[in-house]
Amino acid sequence: MAETRSGDYTDGMATVLIVDDNEQNLYMLRILLETHGYTVESATQGAEALEGALARPPDLVISDILMPVMDGFSFCRLWKADPVLKSKPFVFYTATYTESRDEAFALSLGADRFLLKPQDLDRLLGVVGELLTPIKSKTEPTSEEAEESEAEFLRNYNLTLFRKLEKKVAALEAANKALQRDLVLRQELERQLVQAQKMESLGQIAGGIVHDFNNVLAVIGSMAALLSLSHRHPSPTKDGIDKIQEAVKMGGGLARQLLAFARKQDLTMESLDVDALLKETLPLLVASLPKTVELKLVLDGGLPDVNADAVQLQQLFLNFVSNARDAITPPGKVTIDTASLELDRDFVKHRGEGQPGRYVRIRFLDTGCGMDAPTLEKVFEPFFTTKEPGTGTGLGLSVVYGIVRQHRGFLQVSSALGRGTCFEVYLPALPD
Ligand SMILES: Nc1ncnc2c1ncn2[C@@H]1O[C@H](COP(=O)(O)OP(=O)(O)OP(=O)(O)O)[C@@H](O)[C@H]1O
Ligand SMILES: [Mg+2]
Repeated sequence: MAETRSGDYTDGMATVLIVDDNEQNLYMLRILLETHGYTVESATQGAEALEGALARPPDLVISDILMPVMDGFSFCRLWKADPVLKSKPFVFYTATYTESRDEAFALSLGADRFLLKPQDLDRLLGVVGELLTPIKSKTEPTSEEAEESEAEFLRNYNLTLFRKLEKKVAALEAANKALQRDLVLRQELERQLVQAQKMESLGQIAGGIVHDFNNVLAVIGSMAALLSLSHRHPSPTKDGIDKIQEAVKMGGGLARQLLAFARKQDLTMESLDVDALLKETLPLLVASLPKTVELKLVLDGGLPDVNADAVQLQQLFLNFVSNARDAITPPGKVTIDTASLELDRDFVKHRGEGQPGRYVRIRFLDTGCGMDAPTLEKVFEPFFTTKEPGTGTGLGLSVVYGIVRQHRGFLQVSSALGRGTCFEVYLPALPD
């Protein structure tokens, strides 16, 4: 290809001048043209390009439109007004913010082609080759165009440039706004990450403390057992010792759960009785509520098993209960009830997810402040919180959502301001 083109020139090589204020565009075009046998000159704006071209005219020029000092339109006009340069093909190669009126205006200035970036490179090379082939004589500007009055030119020129600048400014403003939004989001995410890391190290410290706490309980427990042996008969002291033993047992249960919770990482799906798990977790749930908030379990008692990870479900219980705690101004009540339900095709279709069949439903009802519609819409979104900065991460319910999805279940929520809240978790039941 290069051979055919160079054959048209005495020195065997056509010189192409590229004018663009963007370094990358210049570089890309230079590589493209040089690898196809052209000699390349470049400039970053019209005035500089014109000065060089008057001293050493190139065989063809490819120019951008929006450039500092002298834009492409003025450059093209001066090019076509010069007796030597006007015979050299002028190609506009321009990016966005372009409409057909711009092309018409460019061609009215005498430009030979108007190409849009990004252009198929083969086509760009094709156009260059075609314009450099002397057989194809280039279209001279019509007499009408040549006689276009200075005033007419200036009017069109101003209009076109103004339009393009306006669009560029609007695009820059939009980009700036998007950047600012990203920045705010990023700062928020960083804040959340710091908070999450803090919670994680707090969890590790808590794990250690629970261990020590367990040892203390073991000492109290065994001393109480010894004392109990020497007080076999009912007496105030014996009562007291029994109370100590009860408290130790409860404390031990709590400690075991906390440890399991802190250590647990892998998912262990097993056949599980939700009622039994709720009963087992009750002390932990009660401990997470103030004394003035009652916790009531209304268990079905005959639930089918579900395939679940016990620790993940406990985390789900805890997240719901802690949200209820935050929503309640004491005194108040949290009720957890369970039931087994057959969900039919209509129900599933209405929800748009899940399969018909038997499900275990766990409901969390609270007498808290409730939620308005906009809050309700966003509750499961990660980082959505209405709590004071530093008090809530907004991750509680998105973790719940993840857990429920992992268990192939789904969630429902209903609430209204001042009316409390009800979350429903549906988990597919295992066949009997
Ligand atoms: N039981 C509820 N009653 C009223 N509002 C609730 C209840 N549960 C959740 N919300 C609302 O949903 C938001 C998101 O809850 P989520 O558990 O995801 O995060 P959070 O509780 O704000 O933060 P974190 O879980 O880290 O403490 C809460 O900030 C609150 O506005
Ligand atoms: Mg929460």
